[in-house]
Amino acid sequence: MSVYSIAIDGPAGAGKSTVAKVIAKRLNLTYVDTGAMYRAITLKALEKGSLKKEEVIKIAEESIIEIKEGRVYLDGRDVTEEIRKPSIDEKVSLIASIPQVRNRLVEIQRKMAENYGVVMDGRDIGTTVLPNAKYKFFLTADLKVRAKRRYEELVNKGIKTDLKKVEEELTKRDKQDMEREHSPLKVAEDAVIIDTSDKTPEEVVEEILSYIKRREKNVL
Ligand code: CDP
Repeated sequence: MSVYSIAIDGPAGAGKSTVAKVIAKRLNLTYVDTGAMYRAITLKALEKGSLKKEEVIKIAEESIIEIKEGRVYLDGRDVTEEIRKPSIDEKVSLIASIPQVRNRLVEIQRKMAENYGVVMDGRDIGTTVLPNAKYKFFLTADLKVRAKRRYEELVNKGIKTDLKKVEEELTKRDKQDMEREHSPLKVAEDAVIIDTSDKTPEEVVEEILSYIKRREKNVL
């Protein structure tokens, strides 16, 4: 049986996870949200009260992070909702810039893609985690659009915030993600770039599926 994977990268708020979930379902592949793993390590570090590099590395090495049926578990505890809080948004890029943390999580991510065909979303999937992924997409959108999407997401969850603050947070996180030394956010050479600014999630899903359909026979 051929196992193939799809890498979806891009900055925050480009619509990666919404689209990746639907694509995975439609193609009968497993969805892996790698950002959730960096978020879980950040949560644990904040709970332990230390963002010191050595301690965070230890946390990454000792923690058990699992993704099952769309839920994220940290040492057996369901942290799916907690890892989406603004306090995590604020610190996650710092934690994700630590090479040893990345190495540990990349190892887990690669293992996941060994056994199943995956749709994996993140920042370095097409460039580092799965350089041989059969399909690679890079989703982008204007900063204003991305900020508005993230703002609405937070408001819908009952989290109080303002649009300007969200825009600043995204700008800061993008900068940190693009400028870090170890596997920064960038477009893989062979990725298809999709600007989602004026597209609905459904339109992006159809665009990706029809791209794959043109190249793949009998999977859809
Ligand atoms: O959903 P959103 O785009 O806000 O972010 P996420 O995918 O949950 O990722 C949160 C953060 O984790 C990013 O801003 C990156 O700093 C880091 N990350 C990473 O470095 N590499 C990945 N493969 C995935 C996430």
